[in-house]
Amino acid sequence: MSAAPRAGNGKVTVPDIASRKTHFHPAFSNAKPGARSESEVKITCLTAYDYPTARLLDEAGVDVILVGDSLGMAVLGYDSTLPVTLDEMVDHTRAVRRAVRHALVVADMPYGSFHVSLEESVRNAVRLVKEGGAEAVKVEGGERRIELIARLVEAEIPVMGHVGLTPQSLNAQGGFHVQGKTSDAARQVERDARAVEAAGAFAVVLESMPRELAARITEKLRIPTIGIGAGPDCDGQVLVIHDLLGYGYGAGHKLKFVRQYANLSAEITRAVTAYCEDVRGGSFPSDAESYHSAAELHEQVPAGQRR
Ligand code: KIV
Repeated sequence: MSAAPRAGNGKVTVPDIASRKTHFHPAFSNAKPGARSESEVKITCLTAYDYPTARLLDEAGVDVILVGDSLGMAVLGYDSTLPVTLDEMVDHTRAVRRAVRHALVVADMPYGSFHVSLEESVRNAVRLVKEGGAEAVKVEGGERRIELIARLVEAEIPVMGHVGLTPQSLNAQGGFHVQGKTSDAARQVERDARAVEAAGAFAVVLESMPRELAARITEKLRIPTIGIGAGPDCDGQVLVIHDLLGYGYGAGHKLKFVRQYANLSAEITRAVTAYCEDVRGGSFPSDAESYHSAAELHEQVPAGQRR
């Protein structure tokens, strides 16, 4: 279980997460130099897209459950996150929300749901909250999202930012590449993170960037950073649950930043192969796995046919 500070009823809230800054910068605090922020405990975040997974994650004590648009690749079989629709995000967020008692539920705004106009973007985010039950939304992009983030916050919708590698920019960024590797690029990622904070986001995901850059951003921001492929110095970490479990599309293509804690694909293959063998060989179902009729009718089944 996480040792995260929680409200009296154990529910993790947006203010709880916003206060979980493990790195402290003297310029932003009244605390004495050398002092640490109140919470030294890193934020744990994982993705989930369905009821049973969300329930297991919640019971294991994960702080934040992200219904990421990685849904498209992890579950729906798309080869990028771009085709994921708002309706799909609402449906999966709703399933996750039903399962969760403690964790904060954050839903991704999918590609296209915040690119047309501010009004439409707010309307779409409201759907994730009202219909999906999300407690916050995540928006990819930095400086370009300042107005949008401010509008969402004004509409009482907490926002988690997301800078660095932003998978929805697949075409614009020309693929999935580590970001911020040159000094100009690093300065841009830093400006993006600062912009997201200034606009009112309560936390920001830092994806695929050098550890040193993520550490510097984490040091400078007042809001917590949640890293994926951004090294250990962030205030928290997030992974796609299928990568952590070795389940599905990611299996076999191990990303540098993924630590795989299980091999569910192998376990599922083993179980399904054994099931097929048992059915084909006639050992499943056994007599003990069968219902039985009343004793007087039982006599009508020839004894030799009973297993
Ligand atoms: O969609 C997603 O799962 C994400 C995380 C990888 C941060 O954006």
